[in-house]
Amino acid sequence: MPKVLKCDPTSISFDNDGRPRITSQYTRAALRLASRRLHDLQPVAFPTETVYGLAAIALNPEAASRIFSTKGRPADNPLIVHVSSQSMLHSLLPPHFTIPPSYQTLIDAFWPGPLTLLFPTDISKIPSIITASHSTVAVRMPSHPVARALIAVSNAPLAAPSANSSGKPSPTRAEHVFRDLNGKVGLILDGGPCDIGLESTVLDGLHHDGNIRILRPGGITVEQIEEALRLAHSGHSIPRVLVHRRDFVDDAIEQAPTTPGMKYRHYSPAIPVTLLRATSHPPAGANSISPSTLLASLKSSTVANPPPKVGLLAPSESALAKKLLQDPVIQWHRYTLGSLSEMSIIAQRLFDGLLSLEQEGVDLILIEEVPEENEGLAIMNRVKKAASETCWIVPNSL
Ligand code: TXA
Ligand code: MG
Repeated sequence: MPKVLKCDPTSISFDNDGRPRITSQYTRAALRLASRRLHDLQPVAFPTETVYGLAAIALNPEAASRIFSTKGRPADNPLIVHVSSQSMLHSLLPPHFTIPPSYQTLIDAFWPGPLTLLFPTDISKIPSIITASHSTVAVRMPSHPVARALIAVSNAPLAAPSANSSGKPSPTRAEHVFRDLNGKVGLILDGGPCDIGLESTVLDGLHHDGNIRILRPGGITVEQIEEALRLAHSGHSIPRVLVHRRDFVDDAIEQAPTTPGMKYRHYSPAIPVTLLRATSHPPAGANSISPSTLLASLKSSTVANPPPKVGLLAPSESALAKKLLQDPVIQWHRYTLGSLSEMSIIAQRLFDGLLSLEQEGVDLILIEEVPEENEGLAIMNRVKKAASETCWIVPNSL
């Protein structure tokens, strides 16, 4: 049984150099134990503001290899290195590398926080197991006090993917980690539910054209990044922010799994997930149906033993959800994501919704799309990867 130790994030503060002050005794004791385990090369699960992570000492290849075995993670998928201060970042970088102005702007605006930046890797410092032998290393400084304090108390950069079995939804509560990695991880620090609920934005600004490429939309939105660059670069040429697959495609990224979710199954619970897209203009050849046809097909085909138990993840104001829930035969398990007017709440609840419905034993999860702007871009990035099927619902029949 893994040890689960509570930590109180409100008891931790940091000075300007990122040194923590921890007033709660049990939190200090938990962090010290976690640090000892990390230095003994044992992975430790810990809360970050995005999702729970599975930490190991980043500069020790054997420690890092345990992350891969614990998660069942393919070796060609690189890890993010977490730092607690800018001086720790500098200690990792090649000696002659100068931080580009756009990166400094983004670091000033969003660190500590859910933004991961790619840097050139220094192979004399960063083990190749971390970067999967790529020429860049991904680094972020988490803002969750427990995460940042764990790095500082351990006095070492920590490699940390999300603390889930590879392919499953990312955990946003200690109990999600407990259920998923039970028996595989010895210590879980419990810092309460994660604020953001989706992973960090992964960003590459190392190209010669000066443009910023978003490899994975996440906790910091494209709009926030554009705004920070616009404010800091006024009068100069402002870097363009390009989103992978929306604004650019890159064959190298498509081939290699360095872009999250390109090659491997992601964010999927053990049960099928269907994405519902309500639109009057479904793309040519799309599987477009009315709500009643959807209901009929749910009743006829989803399960061996009717009535089907169907999980429904939809915004609170959804007309489609209202219509579907009127069906008296299906056993509905509704998980309310929150209102479209508060997309950050929908982001925060998405993985919890998928994992809770799975836990309730539903046969299938239906999840309704949200607009792909602000937090919606990251939400839909995860939803599309979680869903094995998409149904276009014709709205005039609602
Ligand atoms: O919010 C987060 O980023 C969480 C918390 C724990 O910090 N971590 C996380 O790690 O989401 P992970 O491993 O689940 O996702 C990191 C993604 C990987 O899918 C990987 O493909 C990408 O970042 N990545 C890491 N290093 C990279 C690199 N050098 N180039 C491109 N992508 C990279
Ligand atoms: Mg992950």
